[in-house]
Amino acid sequence: MGLLTDCFGIDFGTTNSAVVSRRDQDGNIVFHQHGSDYGLPMPSSIAIDRKTGEVYSGRRSWEKRSELAERCEYIRSVKSLLDDDDGAPLLIDGNDKRWTPVDVASEIFKALKKLVRNSHERLDRATVAIPITFSPTKRRKLRQAAAMAGIEITSFISEPTAAFFANYDDLRSCSTIAVFDWGGGTLDVSVLKHSGGAVEELAVRGMSIAGDHIDMKMARHIHSMIARDRRSTGIAFEDIPARQRDYLIVASERAKKEFSGDDEATVAISEYGDFGTLRKTLIYDWFAEIIRPEVDAAVDCLKKAVKSSKVGINNIDVVLMVGGTSGLRPLREAMEQIFADRIYMPENKEWNIAMGAAKLRHEPGEHYAAQSLGVNLSSGAFYPILSRGTPLKGFKASCDFGIVDSSEEARFIFSDGDERAPLCLKSLSVPAYRFLYEKIKLDAEVDDNLVFTVYAKSERQSEDFTRFWEYDGLRCGYRISK
Ligand SMILES: Nc1ncnc2c1ncn2[C@@H]1O[C@H](COP(=O)(O)OP(=O)(O)OP(=O)(O)O)[C@@H](O)[C@H]1O
Ligand SMILES: [Mg+2]
Repeated sequence: MGLLTDCFGIDFGTTNSAVVSRRDQDGNIVFHQHGSDYGLPMPSSIAIDRKTGEVYSGRRSWEKRSELAERCEYIRSVKSLLDDDDGAPLLIDGNDKRWTPVDVASEIFKALKKLVRNSHERLDRATVAIPITFSPTKRRKLRQAAAMAGIEITSFISEPTAAFFANYDDLRSCSTIAVFDWGGGTLDVSVLKHSGGAVEELAVRGMSIAGDHIDMKMARHIHSMIARDRRSTGIAFEDIPARQRDYLIVASERAKKEFSGDDEATVAISEYGDFGTLRKTLIYDWFAEIIRPEVDAAVDCLKKAVKSSKVGINNIDVVLMVGGTSGLRPLREAMEQIFADRIYMPENKEWNIAMGAAKLRHEPGEHYAAQSLGVNLSSGAFYPILSRGTPLKGFKASCDFGIVDSSEEARFIFSDGDERAPLCLKSLSVPAYRFLYEKIKLDAEVDDNLVFTVYAKSERQSEDFTRFWEYDGLRCGYRISK
């Protein structure tokens, strides 16, 4: 018999994927983190045996990644591959199975499902957190991958919004929040505006230097130090067998984490190429110096996001720091210099986004349009199709337009209708029949993936002359019921 929980949130990360369930235990609400043996989220990497098609997932496969690479196709960050078309498979294994990015992503969902089963729960439905910039193609493919693993994605939620609601009890009085999410693969910064349980994103910015990059940099530096100590500078990092290089990368990551609280960390490996046994004590100042460029780049990224939000750094009420790499002590020190006591770092920063998603799966709330979207009429007036503030679930609208001359096409100019500086989003040409006052029908909808699509056709033309536009940049807000 399994526990009857149906409130799961998933953070499908580039490096780690986290699943959290919200349970009502004896009247208390608890969030259960479904971690691997080490209590950490599951690495998002998958290894597939080229001959047998056997799949390896989870933390152990990550730690042995170079070893497995000898006989397996190792796919590290399928999240970034989901946009690729499915023409060329990532792998055709010995059983002639073609592995597409969706197949690989579904293996991650299957592994998450298994993790949950270990706690005697069933993961059948979940809210999934995604970056706001996730394209419609990626959203559809992620949905498909989850479905292949028997998981229905009930709703998507943007990662920073999930992070904010995970900490809502403490942050509800804040109006302007910078969410700083530094993980294994990317740093994503978003500036959020909050009012009475409604959240909108004012600006986003990111960079692809993160935890994995730091581990590799440390490993290379440690290698050079050892080579110098042993007077063997001729032995390059690449000369070390892949498996033993992995040991050093894993040991570097461990040391990196230890520096969050300690001034010293020791790296010890029993077998490291021609160097044999390795034991090296590292000091915090060395570490801080090595990663200073990455920390400076991250702080700069935050400053740029704040600048483009036009909010002003002094008006940021709080910087919410999530993602594992936010735990870096040199980063915390640099942030404290700028924001002093305006920093908020939840304890479980690698789980926070999944926890927020699980919370929102349970609490009633809705996405709404954080912008208007409509057509610029020939008179110069703006005709709204979707108005700011409209709930997006199940949104559908139809309207008719008349051609005012006898042209061969009707040209629709879609814009956000901003009063001061309207942003022109798309020009869509629809074949017409050259009749005066010919009616052009426009059907708009927002689907479950939060993608706005409009279909336009002359009533005198056949379906073949339907033209459509899919807008993946629709700015959405999310509000919870008060
Ligand atoms: N205390 C710590 N100090 C420094 N780094 C840490 C600490 N704890 C975890 N990390 C690092 O955080 C990274 C994983 O973070 P997280 O799980 O947030 O990534 P992710 O969400 O999968 O990645 P992304 O957001 O880039 O898609 C790893 O590189 C890990 O080494
Ligand atoms: Mg992340």
